Amino acid sequence: MTSNNQIKSKKRVRDHGEVFTSEREVKAMCDLVKEETERIDSRFLEPACGDGNFLAEILTRKLEIVKKKYKKSPLDYEKNAVLAVSSIYGVDILIDNVIACRERLFRLWDKAYSAVCKKECNDETRQAVRFILSRNIVCGNALTLLCVDENGNDTTDPIVFSEWAFITGNMLQRSDYTFAELLNESDSEENNQTSLFDKQQNEEGIFLKKYVSHYRRVQENG
Ligand SMILES: C[S@@+](CC[C@H](N)C(=O)[O-])C[C@H]1O[C@@H](n2cnc3c(N)ncnc32)[C@H](O)[C@@H]1O
Repeated sequence: MTSNNQIKSKKRVRDHGEVFTSEREVKAMCDLVKEETERIDSRFLEPACGDGNFLAEILTRKLEIVKKKYKKSPLDYEKNAVLAVSSIYGVDILIDNVIACRERLFRLWDKAYSAVCKKECNDETRQAVRFILSRNIVCGNALTLLCVDENGNDTTDPIVFSEWAFITGNMLQRSDYTFAELLNESDSEENNQTSLFDKQQNEEGIFLKKYVSHYRRVQENG
């Protein structure tokens, strides 16, 4: 969304407060947490992400760092670029925004991946990244913490987020948590915005399920 194109319709502004942030403001705000935006695995969650203005800027910055560090090794680049995208989360109540956000982040990621890895690129990793984005960018109500239907109405399903973490070598672990429990936990932590998932995984009612697979095949645990 450009600064000239911050509103889609008056109805959407009235119904959902949908006004997109201009690129200049996005960059200035990201600069306030510059070090975190340039750490490959720092986690960011935007609870009203729209089509991803902030998330796209954060992903761009992270991928620049991945390129700087790993451009000479396509395999290391690929793995770290997956780590970068897996640390970015968003929620929006409107399904068209969610779809646009996922697609935008995927295209941005794929453009960077294709430019660095060239002939070493593979579609399995691209599918893995699409899957990660489908789990990380969620259609839900950030106030009730419930998933919504295509009309934006609450369902009974809680919003669930996946924590992604490399454990050994190329094995990526996915741990699912309810958003509600993550928020309860982060409320009790002092001003630490990136510690959303840093908690006991076996605490009752918080941790839902864990999967481990090669990072190119996370989509097999659908
Ligand atoms: C002011 S716009 C900001 C969009 C984006 N963060 C940006 O800065 O460009 C607010 C967004 O929040 C979404 N939204 C409104 N109510 C919401 C809710 N209860 N839960 C999740 N998203 C919501 C709207 O669909 C809209 O995309």
